[in-house]
Amino acid sequence: MNLHTRVTAEFTQRFGSPPGAIVRAPGRVNLIGEHTDYNDGFVLPMAIDRAIWIALSPRPDRRVAAHSLDFNATAEFDLDRLEKQSGWIEYLKGVAWALQEAGHPLTGFNAVVAGDVPIGAGLSSSAAWELAAARAFAFTSGFEWNAAQMALLGQRAENKWVGVNCGIMDQMISAAGQADHALLIDCRSLATQSVPLPPGIAVVVLDTSTRRGLVDSAYNERRAQCEAVAQFFGVPALRDVTLDQLNEKRDQLDRVAYRRARHVISENDRTVQAAEAMKHGAAIELGQLMQLSHMSMRDDFEISNRELNIMVECAEHQSGCYGARMTGGGFGGCAVALVRQDTAEVFSASVAAEYEDATGLKPNIYICMATNGAEIVQSERA
Ligand code: GLA
Repeated sequence: MNLHTRVTAEFTQRFGSPPGAIVRAPGRVNLIGEHTDYNDGFVLPMAIDRAIWIALSPRPDRRVAAHSLDFNATAEFDLDRLEKQSGWIEYLKGVAWALQEAGHPLTGFNAVVAGDVPIGAGLSSSAAWELAAARAFAFTSGFEWNAAQMALLGQRAENKWVGVNCGIMDQMISAAGQADHALLIDCRSLATQSVPLPPGIAVVVLDTSTRRGLVDSAYNERRAQCEAVAQFFGVPALRDVTLDQLNEKRDQLDRVAYRRARHVISENDRTVQAAEAMKHGAAIELGQLMQLSHMSMRDDFEISNRELNIMVECAEHQSGCYGARMTGGGFGGCAVALVRQDTAEVFSASVAAEYEDATGLKPNIYICMATNGAEIVQSERA
């Protein structure tokens, strides 16, 4: 039974009538453009066919009551008395908080929730939760869906309610993704451009089964290092510094700061080039840019780990693979590979076997489709 059917059936059983709407919001994989979002730069993610699904109906009072099929747990809260606690319901609550703070009057709902975005793998299950919640509130409360605004509110919920200091990429792609396309996002203006996946290409997500450890501190440290270099140049963000400018001042910067900035600035360039390559169906060039991106993250930004490097090496030498790189925040989680579609199954099996041989770990491998961002897939009002 797929998730759509499961949440619908469970809702009908629990609440005695079919749901008024079903919403879904996807996780994502980033093809290129890593740690560039909080530097006001460019990213090129796609929304994937793994998502959070919510079946819901509005309630007359100001309460939200949700049952999670994944956690087999029910939780409730009052829109007039939002208190921080812990657990999966905090995503719904945090988004309610951000929406109300932004002046949206909200209507509560009954809901059944389920998802298949692996948690903690770096595929943005949190952003999927946040955007599914925003979509659910937009439906019950009748405000207009504006993808960029909703992404910003989802990010605010993540930063201020959940307490994770992320950039805008994950929420933006979960809000605005387009089927069969990746999205070039300008993280300064939030302008987006959809770029088609090259024909005959499969995007394969390779989960190393390693999980990031002390990730918050490392992520925040990278952010601070980037901000310090931007400040040194007297500009708002590293987006505003070119490689030539950076190289001119190389001896005035400490070695680590220089390498961190070199990653971000070169990654921005690669991301824009990658979008161009995709527009021309140039899979070989796109793959090469992904490989360069991986090296830059491994050597300059230092956010890879041994298993991610092994996974990328296993992927790269398979025939039919154009390129591979670690993806997401780093220090564990997933790599992504660009593969000829007709070799994707064989590719996945070979990489899995080689990776397991080399590390003793069982990977999870997903051949992914690019899907739409947060959407109402069925509603009684439609
Ligand atoms: C995490 C964050 C994003 C982004 C990536 C790195 O996924 O949530 O905002 O910074 O790391 O590109």
